Order: sequence, then C-alpha cells, then structure tokens
Amino acid sequence: MMKAQDFDILSREFHANPFPTLDRMRARGPVAGVKLPIVGHTWLAVTHDACAALLKDHASFARNPANAGSKTQERILRFLPRTIGILALNMLGHDDPEHRRLRGLVDQAFGRRTIEAMKPMIVAIADRLLDRLDGRTEVDLMSEFCRDLPLSVICAMLGLPEQDHDRFKNWLGGLKDTANIGAVIRAIPGVIKVVRYLRRVSRPGGGALPDGLIAALREAETEGQTLTEDELVSMIFLLFGAGQETTTHLISGGLFALLSHEDQLRQLRSDPALMPLCVEECLRYVSPVQMTKPRFATRDVVWQGQQFRRGDMFAGLLAAANCDPAKFEHPHSFNITRHPNPHLSFGTGVHFCLGFQLARAETAIAFERILARFPDMRLAPQAKIEWHKRLGIRALTQLPVRLAA
Ligand code: HEM
Repeated sequence: MMKAQDFDILSREFHANPFPTLDRMRARGPVAGVKLPIVGHTWLAVTHDACAALLKDHASFARNPANAGSKTQERILRFLPRTIGILALNMLGHDDPEHRRLRGLVDQAFGRRTIEAMKPMIVAIADRLLDRLDGRTEVDLMSEFCRDLPLSVICAMLGLPEQDHDRFKNWLGGLKDTANIGAVIRAIPGVIKVVRYLRRVSRPGGGALPDGLIAALREAETEGQTLTEDELVSMIFLLFGAGQETTTHLISGGLFALLSHEDQLRQLRSDPALMPLCVEECLRYVSPVQMTKPRFATRDVVWQGQQFRRGDMFAGLLAAANCDPAKFEHPHSFNITRHPNPHLSFGTGVHFCLGFQLARAETAIAFERILARFPDMRLAPQAKIEWHKRLGIRALTQLPVRLAA
C-alpha cells in the first residue's frame, strides 16, 4: 500500500507537471493502492485500459456504495444537515436503473442540436465578458473571464435571473480545496445558501425564467415519473458542480498550454479549422478532471491480475490514462493536431459526461473570441503561475496575461 504522499498527487508541484509522477505510478502496474485524504484507502486505475475497464464494468463496480454492501454513505448522510444530504440524490451518485431515469430527464437538453442552438448565446456572453477587458494591459483571465463564462452560460441555460449570478460566485467560491476537511467544512454554509436559493427559485413563481431548463425539468417526465423537489434541486446543483469548475479549468489550463507553446498557438492562429482538435488536445493534456468519483466492488473479484474484496473502493485516474504511452504517441507533448485522441477526460460508460458537447462548445468559443480580440496576447512577463492544491481537479490559481503588445 502506498500513501498519496509517495506519489504526491495533491501537491502544487504535481499539478504543475503531473507526467513524471503519473508515469512512475503506471510503471508499477495498472492498479495503484493509495491512501487519500478524507476518502481513505483507494485503488486507482492508472492505465488507459484499466481506467476504461473500471468505468465500463457496471456489474462489478457500482457508484452507490449501498450496491456494494456498504452502509457508510447511508450513515454519513444521516449525520449531515438535510439540506446537504439531498445533494446525494443526483444521477452521478446512482447506478441504473435510478441513474437512467434521472439522466433521461436531462439528456435531450444537453444533446448536440440543443447545444448547437445555444452557440450564438455563448458567443454573446463571451463577447460581453471580453468587452470589459478592452483597453486594459494586464489582467488575470481566471477571475475576469475563465470563471465567468461557464457560470453565466449554465445560469442562462437553467433560466436563473441574471442579477443572481454574482451571489452564486461568492457562495460557491469557498469550495476549492476538497482534499482539506477544514476547507470542506468552511464551505458548507455557502453550499446551504445555494441549495436554499435553488429550492426557492425552482418553485412555480420562484423566479426561474419560463424558457430555461429548471422550468422544463419541473414538467419533465421519464417512464411516467417526474422529479421530486429534492431531486430537482440536487440535479441543478450537480449541473453547477459538474459543469462550471471543470469547464473553467479546461479553458484556463488550455489557454495556459497554448500561451506557453508558441508554435502551437501560431499554428492555431494560422489555421482556425484546427480548433476542434485543439480542444481535444487541451482536454487530454490539461486533464482538468484528474480522477473520477469512487466506484465500489460489488463482489469479491479478481481484476487486472489482483484479488479485491466486495466493498473495496476504486477510482479512475483519468490524468494517468491520458498520458499512457500504450495509447498516445509522445504523450508528454502538447500537439494540437493530435488525431486520433482517445482521451478519457469525460470518463466513459453510463456516467460519461452529460455536458461534453457544452464543454467543447464553450471552450472553442472562448478560445476563438479571445484570440481574435487580442492578437498579441501573451503570458504576463514574470507571471507567477501556481496551481491549487486539490485532489482530482487541475486548477490554476490565476492566469495573468498581457493583452496588448
Ligand atoms: C471540461 C469540462 C468537463 C469535464 C472535463 C467533465 C468531466 C466529467 C467526467 C470525468 C465525468 C464522469 C465522472 C465519473 O464517472 O465519476 C462527468 C460526468 C458528468 N458531467 Fe461532466 N465534465 C465537464 C463539463 C460538464 C458540463 C459543462 C456539464 C453540465 C453542465 C457536466 C455535467 C456532468 C454530469 C451531469 C455528469 C454525470 C453524468 C452521469 O452520472 O450520467 N459536465 N463529467
């Protein structure tokens, strides 16, 4: 058994350059046992094959620990304030058939055609945010663009009143260091505020706009069933949680990768048709979601050549899968023409990211609009680039750039 510290997958240094650590982990075999803060003893799938196998084998590995004979989550939920406890009612925490019922209600809203129709709205939001930067010399793109774009887009999609957007940023802003129990506890009051607000706004006449997803979900039905109010609130919270930070860190991490690889940036500027491949390579190279949520062995099982017990906890280390030399040539190079690019950044199996089309669209639009507006943009001279000390999320603290020559 190795401790997280042996591989240091939490530190700022790891996040600044994860490849050496991930390669060392993979060199020991497809599954690495580590002790992680808060969650404890976890088996990490560190090769591309093992990661994909873990996420696709729903018979052997469940998301809901109760389906692996564990009562721990049930017990924890009993101790949590109800406002927080209901957040576990979301699709990502369930296995089929509950998962299928919940996902079925929102699948269409995140489908290709709907996202295609949203693109002009995303462009308008990006342009409005960039208007605020005109005439400035140096800015922190993280706080002035990368955070705001996904937040404004999801708020608009849900139909939340625009005047509330800033309140959200403050409430949700506290939840940054998820590996630190103190930080998690300190974030709870903010989460409670968000949940209460979402409950209020989601009720008929509560303020949600009639053409948004919240109003649609109130009416939505699959297999003859509608969502309970708790499930609705939990679903909206998941969409925030799963969609906002992740996309922020793809946009900021991707811009950082481009700005620090001048040849790649030049190539993208001279051939904008490379944008879809560029976004895929940013997904792989940055791997903003480094690790999946835990899975639990539903039975005693021999897997990847090792014996495991029912209830054992696993997770896919997507960042390690994404630089596995068995799948990618020169995995440490940032190459915006890479094709094919079978990264696992959106996971795989039934929990494959619901928002993948939205995330791709937002990132491509963010890159297009900012590169067109600021043709001389570069990293601010002497910029201090730091990464958050976070488990499972690769997040820059800021992205200081010089906008004009
Ligand atoms: C760069 C951006 C994003 C990345 C890297 C990302 C990554 C992921 C990953 C890895 C999973 C699977 C987790 C697991 O299996 O444990 C997932 C699931 C999910 N994502 Fe995303 N995501 C992104 C953006 C979004 C957006 C924009 C939304 C929606 C607004 C979203 C909504 C979801 C939901 C609802 C799930 C759960 C799906 C299910 O359980 O069936 N994600 N995402």
